[in-house]
Amino acid sequence: MSSTTLEKQSVAAIYNLESQRFIAGSASEVLGIDFLAHPDWKAFQAFFEELELDKYMMDGGIYRQRRFGRFKWFADGNRLEQQPQTPYTQPLYFNPLNGGIERHFAPLTDAIVNNRVVREILLKLATAYGELEDIQTWKINAYFNRIIATKDFSGQPVPEGKHRDGVKFSCLFMANRLNVSGGSTTLTDILYQKEVFTGTLENPSDVLIFRDDTVIHDTSAITVNEGFKEGYRDVLVIEFY
Ligand SMILES: [Fe+2]
Repeated sequence: MSSTTLEKQSVAAIYNLESQRFIAGSASEVLGIDFLAHPDWKAFQAFFEELELDKYMMDGGIYRQRRFGRFKWFADGNRLEQQPQTPYTQPLYFNPLNGGIERHFAPLTDAIVNNRVVREILLKLATAYGELEDIQTWKINAYFNRIIATKDFSGQPVPEGKHRDGVKFSCLFMANRLNVSGGSTTLTDILYQKEVFTGTLENPSDVLIFRDDTVIHDTSAITVNEGFKEGYRDVLVIEFY
């Protein structure tokens, strides 16, 4: 093992994905970047105030607000290119609840695409995954999700239940959570059906990344805390394939 590799592992746990299926921790620990001190952090959190209701919830739920966008990353020049907005589709075998149809989600705004927190997260993940897999380009899906819970209903971060995203790497990046309990994520080994991780993204900039081709994942419902009318859980989900 070269000294360069040792140094990388000491500052960013993501490189441990070489031998592990998932990494969880703060962004400082996992990515080696302290986003909480970043000048664009407050603007990043505020993007979750400007999402649009997901109208494709086949369970009739009104608890998810979302924006969605696609990128490509190229190792040559470490370039990130936003891709044309096309409808989002998932096969029914990956998403029996909402798959099988074209879903036209609200696009990412120019402010989101140009936000330096967003770009640094995407670039850090892309370069690290690229080094791990010796891959020169990635397709990237980015979803800004707000899950809401009120006194009248709970919120389902994963309404379809246990699933794979159908990609190589997935990342859950916590932007904020307010007045809610729950939202525990589990990773289950695909082959042996054994739980390999259970944990909750509790604090802003908490990260969970996993090799989507080795585990299925699920996140439990969130409920509003006693004494509050409404609460939410804001997570940026990023897929690489
Ligand atoms: Fe997922």
